Amino acid sequence: MFDHTKFLLTGKVALVTGGSRGIGRAIALDFARAGAKVIITSRKAADLEVTAADIRACGGDVFTLPAHLGRMDEISRVIQTIEDRYGRLDILVNNAGASPSMGSVLESEERLWDTVMNLNLKGVYFLSQAAGRLMKKQGGGKIINIASINGYKPEPFVSIYSISKAGVRMITKAFAAELAPYNIQVNTIAPGPVTSKMMDSHWFNLSPEDARKAKQDLENALPMGRIGHPDDIAGAAVYLAGDASSYTTGAEILIDGAVLLSNVSLAGAY
Ligand SMILES: NC(=O)c1ccc[n+]([C@@H]2O[C@H](COP(=O)([O-])OP(=O)(O)OC[C@H]3O[C@@H](n4cnc5c(N)ncnc54)[C@H](OP(=O)(O)O)[C@@H]3O)[C@@H](O)[C@H]2O)c1
Repeated sequence: MFDHTKFLLTGKVALVTGGSRGIGRAIALDFARAGAKVIITSRKAADLEVTAADIRACGGDVFTLPAHLGRMDEISRVIQTIEDRYGRLDILVNNAGASPSMGSVLESEERLWDTVMNLNLKGVYFLSQAAGRLMKKQGGGKIINIASINGYKPEPFVSIYSISKAGVRMITKAFAAELAPYNIQVNTIAPGPVTSKMMDSHWFNLSPEDARKAKQDLENALPMGRIGHPDDIAGAAVYLAGDASSYTTGAEILIDGAVLLSNVSLAGAY
């Protein structure tokens, strides 16, 4: 008989960064539906409360923890708060990511580099380190890093973000190799274009009508004829968070509707 319990997260404690909206929100909702106690974090407390209300409305257990994850003191505070409240952390999803700001490699400024790298790389590395220490103590855990197709193929004018996401893929491999003996599995999900505030920021300088048209043109050009939805990503996160993936580590799940296999230039469609 098929054992569906290995896909359940009953009683597990899960932290989803950037859990207030977009992909993080979808993952947090599915984790809660699968039985996890979910902690969501992002900078804006009010947005976290809106998502927490949605999670509670479907019977989920959720705790909100506002924090800026590009800062070392905030990272320590997040993990300490979780240890004090729950005594453990079974699942970490490093989802929060800084939006790619468009700019030529010849024009990009140090400030943009620091903003993107502090959250997308330094934050992911040190939050994983702090979570990994706790997971080692408790005998195991799961870390899921959200990269991007831009970590495989740089998008023109999105160089710093693309470089950071290539680095996220390497964080996964480095942590997976070193933490394998401690029963901690570390994996990457690399999404293609997904509807979210980050995605919409590509068209911020267009009128609402032109933005709608640009988005439609992009959808028409994509292999599956549509941009992904945050729910398209969440199922893979549930798999990587549960016992079904107990021998999966250092792996990457590409969820891009075949965009990387196509000749579509996302930059050209914006
Ligand atoms: N959407 C796409 O097409 C796409 C494609 C590939 C990969 N991704 C990746 O998927 C992840 C989620 O993206 P998304 O599209 O869902 O983005 P989104 O809608 O912009 O959500 C980003 C989340 O991260 C939080 N966040 C941003 N900066 C933060 C900081 N310094 N500290 C703590 N939290 C912070 C945001 O909340 P606050 O602003 O309140 O802090 C929000 O909850 C990112 O890592 C992104 O790079 C997205």
